Amino acid sequence: MAKTILVTGGAGYIGSHTVLQLLLGGFKTVVVDNLDNSSDISIKRVTELAGEYGQNLIFHKMDLRDKPALEQLFASTTFDAVIHFAGLKAVGESVQKPLLYYNNNLIGTIVLLEVMAAHGCKKLVFSSSATVYGWPKEVPCTEEFPLSATNPYGQTKLFIEEICRDIYRSDAEWKIILLRYFNPVGAHSSGYIGEDPRGIPNNLMPFVQQVAVGRRPALTVFGTDYSTKDGTGVRDYIHVVDLADGHTAALCKLFDSNIGCEVYNLGTGKGTSVLEMVAAFEKASGKKIPLQMAGRRPGDAEIVYASTDKAERELNWKAKFGVNEMCRDQWNWASKNPYGYGSPDSTD
Ligand code: NAD
Ligand code: UFG
Repeated sequence: MAKTILVTGGAGYIGSHTVLQLLLGGFKTVVVDNLDNSSDISIKRVTELAGEYGQNLIFHKMDLRDKPALEQLFASTTFDAVIHFAGLKAVGESVQKPLLYYNNNLIGTIVLLEVMAAHGCKKLVFSSSATVYGWPKEVPCTEEFPLSATNPYGQTKLFIEEICRDIYRSDAEWKIILLRYFNPVGAHSSGYIGEDPRGIPNNLMPFVQQVAVGRRPALTVFGTDYSTKDGTGVRDYIHVVDLADGHTAALCKLFDSNIGCEVYNLGTGKGTSVLEMVAAFEKASGKKIPLQMAGRRPGDAEIVYASTDKAERELNWKAKFGVNEMCRDQWNWASKNPYGYGSPDSTD
C-alpha cells in the first residue's frame, strides 16, 4: 500500500520539488498551504510533471493555524507521516515583524503537532536551517555544534527544534527528523517549477536570476573583505532536487528504524564564494551580471558549509549535483519563467 504523506507548505519552492520527488517515488501526497508565499500554479505543474502519478496529489488551501480545518483533514485521511515546510522565511522581515514570525511559525507548528498527536500520527520531518549555527567558529558544521540565533526567523527554527526534542522526551512513540538545510538553489531540470520569491529577493541566486532576465540592474555584493579566497562570503549551495531527495531518504529512515528525534545537515560539504557563484551562473546563462560592491550585510556569517557525514552514513543520502548544474537549472527556469509563476504586473 502506498504511504500517504501530508506536506505542509508544499506549494512553495522546496515543498513543490519535494512533492514531485515523492509522487515519482510512489507516495501519495496531500498538500496544505495558505499560498501566502506561493502560487497554486506550482501544484498544477507538479501534477503535470508527475504524469500518471499526478493523480496521487491532493491540494487544500489552508492555514495551518486553522485548527478545526486541520482536525477535519486528519479525521478524513490517515497520514503515515508529515513533512512540515510551512513557515515564513525572510530574515529581514522577521526583524521588522517578529510577532508575525512567532505567530505564523510557532503557532502553526504547535497546532500541527497537537492535531498529529490527537490522531496518532507521530512521524515528522521538519525543515530546519543552517541558520541555527549562527556564525560558526569553524567549518564544516557538524550537527553537534552549539546553536544560536541572530534574528526572529532563526529563533523560530531553534524553538521548533526544542519543541520537537521535548515532545519526543515526553512520548517515545514520536519519530522526528530535523533537517538543517544549507543554501537551496536551482530548479527542476524541466524548468517548469522553481523559486518565485515575492518582492525584492533576499537571497543571492534569486537576485542574480532577476538581474539576468533584466528585472534588476545589478547584483549588490555584500562584503568583499571577508577572510575567504576572494573576500566574499562562502556558503554551501545545494541543488533543490538533491534537497528534495533528502526528504525521501528521511521518510525511509522514519519508516524503517527506531530513530527517536534526530538532526541531519543537508548540504554538499563544499563552500562556494559569491563571486564563484556569479561566475558559474554567467557561464551557464551566457549573461553578464553587473556587480556593485558594498559593505557587509549585518548578521551575515563569513563561511558556512556542512559536514555531510551523518546524512551520508545514516540516511544513505548524498548530494549529486554541483554548482554548474545548479546554475544551469536555475537559468533554465528563469529564462522560461522570467516572472516566475506570475505576469510582469503581478510581481514586485
Ligand atoms: P517558501 O516560502 O517557498 O515555502 C513555504 C510555504 O509555506 C509557502 O508556500 C507558504 O505559502 C506556506 N505557508 C507559510 N505559512 C503558512 C501557514 N501558516 N499555513 C499554511 N501554509 C503556510 O519557502 P521554501 O524556501 O520552500 O522553504 C520551506 C521551508 O524550508 C521553510 O520552513 C523555510 O524556513 C525552510 N528553509 C528554507 C531555506 C531556503 O533558503 N529556502 C533554508 C533553510 C530552511
Ligand atoms: N549576497 C549578496 N548579495 C545579495 C544576496 C546575498 O552578496 O543580494 C551574499 C550574502 O552576503 C552571503 C551569500 O550571498 O554571503 C548568501 O546569501 P543568502 O542570503 O543567499 O543566504 P544566507 O546564507 O545568508 O541565508 C540563507 C537564508 C537563511 C538560511 C541560510 C541557510 O536566508 O534563512 O540560507 O539555509 F538560514
